[in-house]
Amino acid sequence: MNTRLRYPALGFGLGLRVPHYEDLLREPQRVDWLEIISENFMVPGGRPLHYLTRLRERYPMVMHGVSLSIGSVDELDRDYLRQLRALIDRVQPAWVSDHLCFTGAGGHNLHDLLPLPYTEEALRHVAARVQQVQDLLGRRILLENVSSYVNFRSSEMSEWEFLAELAQRADCLLLLDVNNIHVSSHNHGFDPLEYLRAMPAARIQQLHLAGHSRQGGLLIDTHDAPVPPPVWALYAEACARFGEVSTMIERDAEIPPLAELLGELDEARRIAGARKARAA
Ligand SMILES: [Fe+2]
Repeated sequence: MNTRLRYPALGFGLGLRVPHYEDLLREPQRVDWLEIISENFMVPGGRPLHYLTRLRERYPMVMHGVSLSIGSVDELDRDYLRQLRALIDRVQPAWVSDHLCFTGAGGHNLHDLLPLPYTEEALRHVAARVQQVQDLLGRRILLENVSSYVNFRSSEMSEWEFLAELAQRADCLLLLDVNNIHVSSHNHGFDPLEYLRAMPAARIQQLHLAGHSRQGGLLIDTHDAPVPPPVWALYAEACARFGEVSTMIERDAEIPPLAELLGELDEARRIAGARKARAA
């Protein structure tokens, strides 16, 4: 496998959330690295940057954005990219990611991560924009698969075909959200293993694990619950296929004490370790 495309693996991390700031500053912790939401730290000063500096002294960090809107037909937001570059200079992250989606059109931000139509036209458009962003930032970025609840009738290929082809054409890396694959596979009725099999292993830089909730017949990507058994099972399959990949737990609501998330991280370590031992 060509691993030279990827940045060095970091181990098992957590999404940095305000209720855990103080606990994370107290040593020792069993967190190898932290993922920050970039937009939360695009501020002129104050408490967020104070904590960011102190935490960065103790942990490797990666940056995860929600506003790049790589799939939009609007011009790339140069002001946003300037702020992103300034934050990269400050944080010196191991890598930078955002989502394969669009967040609005005609200058309106819908504050949602909306899926794209999976067409050749969209593929060409997004690949060119990823290359533009990578040129501006001087590094390969990671794009994450979003969960979805609707399909476009115009789609000409599956999400996994689109994602794999995009990574190749744009020469970017992927952040695979295992929960989002599970959620979308339930909502759209596809086989999540087919999705994993289609992924280019050499370009999988990071995995997200999270929980979800059920509304009627749909699963919703709410990040408000522990990682459930089907997502752990899919994670085991991902470990078997991709080998050592930096893994992170994402919790955005109903945030529990840090100890509970550390327990989930231990479970991720156990699953990844078991797959590694079997492969050896
Ligand atoms: Fe995610």
